Amino acid sequence: MQLSGASILAHLTLVWTFYNIVLAAAENVTIHNDNPSIIYSEGDWKFEDDYSSGATDHWSGDTGAWASFTFTGVAIYYSVHLYPWNIPAGGRFFLDGNSEGNIRLFDPRADDYADVGTIVWSRTGLENTQHTLKVQISDDFITLDTLV
Ligand SMILES: *[C@@H]1O[C@H](CO)[C@@H](O)[C@H](O)[C@H]1NC(C)=O
Repeated sequence: MQLSGASILAHLTLVWTFYNIVLAAAENVTIHNDNPSIIYSEGDWKFEDDYSSGATDHWSGDTGAWASFTFTGVAIYYSVHLYPWNIPAGGRFFLDGNSEGNIRLFDPRADDYADVGTIVWSRTGLENTQHTLKVQISDDFITLDTLV
């Protein structure tokens, strides 16, 4: 069968449209720590909003404290304003129940709370299905700032 010029054009247009949809789906959604879709283990977490940088976070120093976030998407980034050297903060991360190891949430070279967020952990190229990120305290403190 021989395709006419018009039908080839229609085909290309359709492909382009699909491509655009895929790009639009790959948009970042920023989830702040006070977002109700984040589940915090009860009674363990404190909300902090008086950092000089204007940052906010949820933090805990309680043994066993955890937080969990369920999302549908292809990537996730965990961003925090790192704690300075004298505050050992860390979390054990689990994605869909699989351990991602211990993630350090402080900067030993800093002498004050960081002004800007740092992505301390991320996963990309996930299947576009529902995923659950769980973080559990693994050091003296844990902090949750922003999820993208
Ligand atoms: C989403 O955010 C991450 C982390 O800031 C960034 O690396 C990535 O390029 C962003 N992706 C899009 C599609 O904006």
